[in-house]
Amino acid sequence: MTRPPSPVLPSVLHPAGPDADVIAHMAWMLFGGGTLIFVAVMALLALSLRGHARPVRPMRWIAGAGIAFPVAVLLLLLGWSTWHSARLSFQSSRVPLQIAVSAKMWWWEVRYPGPAGDIVSANEIHIPAGQDVYIGLSASDVIHSLWIPALNGKMDAIPGRVTGLTLHAAKPGVYRGQCAEYCGAQHARMALHVVAHTNADFTAWLARQGRAAAVPANAYLERGRRVFVEQRCGACHTIRGVAAGALLGPDLTHVGSRLHIAAGTLRNHRGTLAGWIADPQSVKPGARMPPAADLDGESLRALATYLESLK
Ligand code: CUA
Repeated sequence: MTRPPSPVLPSVLHPAGPDADVIAHMAWMLFGGGTLIFVAVMALLALSLRGHARPVRPMRWIAGAGIAFPVAVLLLLLGWSTWHSARLSFQSSRVPLQIAVSAKMWWWEVRYPGPAGDIVSANEIHIPAGQDVYIGLSASDVIHSLWIPALNGKMDAIPGRVTGLTLHAAKPGVYRGQCAEYCGAQHARMALHVVAHTNADFTAWLARQGRAAAVPANAYLERGRRVFVEQRCGACHTIRGVAAGALLGPDLTHVGSRLHIAAGTLRNHRGTLAGWIADPQSVKPGARMPPAADLDGESLRALATYLESLK
C-alpha cells in the first residue's frame, strides 16, 4: 500500500472535494464583496475628510446608503447563496459506504459496519477517494461538532440523535479535522484525520482492520501484551484477540497503524505511546485516561513497543 502524504491544511480555502469547493467559492465571493464595500466606504470617508465631497441631503444618505443599498446587497446575497448552496450534496445514507462516528470527550470512535460485526477504530476516518461516503454522526456525552474543512462544512454531533454528513475526497490524501463545538477542557485537542485511499488500498486497509490483533512475534512483544493484561488496560480498551468488550477508551486492536494518538495530539510511535501511558494528564489534563503510576520503566517500554507493533 502506498503511504498517504502528510496532512492537508485544515483550511476552508484549500478545498479537496465537491462540497468544500462550493463552500470555498462562497467564502471567496463574500470576502470579495465585503472588501469592495469596505473600500468604497473608506473612499467616501477620505473624500468627506478632505472636504471635496459635494454636499448631499442627509435624507438621501439615510434612504440610499442606509436602507436601499444594504437591502439590495443582502437580497442579492441571499438569492445567490441559496442558489449556490443547492449544489451542496444531499445528505443521504443511500450510498455504498456508511461509517458511524461517535464523538466523545475527547476523541472520536469510528465504526465500519461489516457482515461480521462492526470494525471499530478511533480518531481516523478512512475512506475511498472519488466517491460519496455517508457519515452517521452521534455523541455519547455532550455536543461536539465534526469539521474537516478541506472536505465539507461542520456538522453537530448531538447525544441521542444521528446527524448525517457526506464526505467526498477528490483524490487520496490525509485531511485534518477538528471538533468545532466547545465540549470541555480538551476541546482543542480533539482533532482527527480523514485518510482517503484509492479503492484498492481502502479495501485492503479495511480487510486488515477486520482481523484480530497481531500475535506477539517475540518474547519482548509478548511481555508487552502481558503488561496490557496485568495492568487491566482491557477494562477500558479493546484489543480484539486479547481483551474484548471494553468501550470506554479507543479500540487498540490496530493502534500501531494509526498516524496519531490522543485524538491528533501526538505523532504515533513507541516514544509518544510510552509518554502518553505514563502521564496522560500532563498531555491532556482532564482526559479519562488515568496515569500508569506503578508501572516500571522496562514494562512501560515493552507495552509501548507492543502497541506500536499492532499494525
Ligand atoms: Cu468535542 Cu469540542
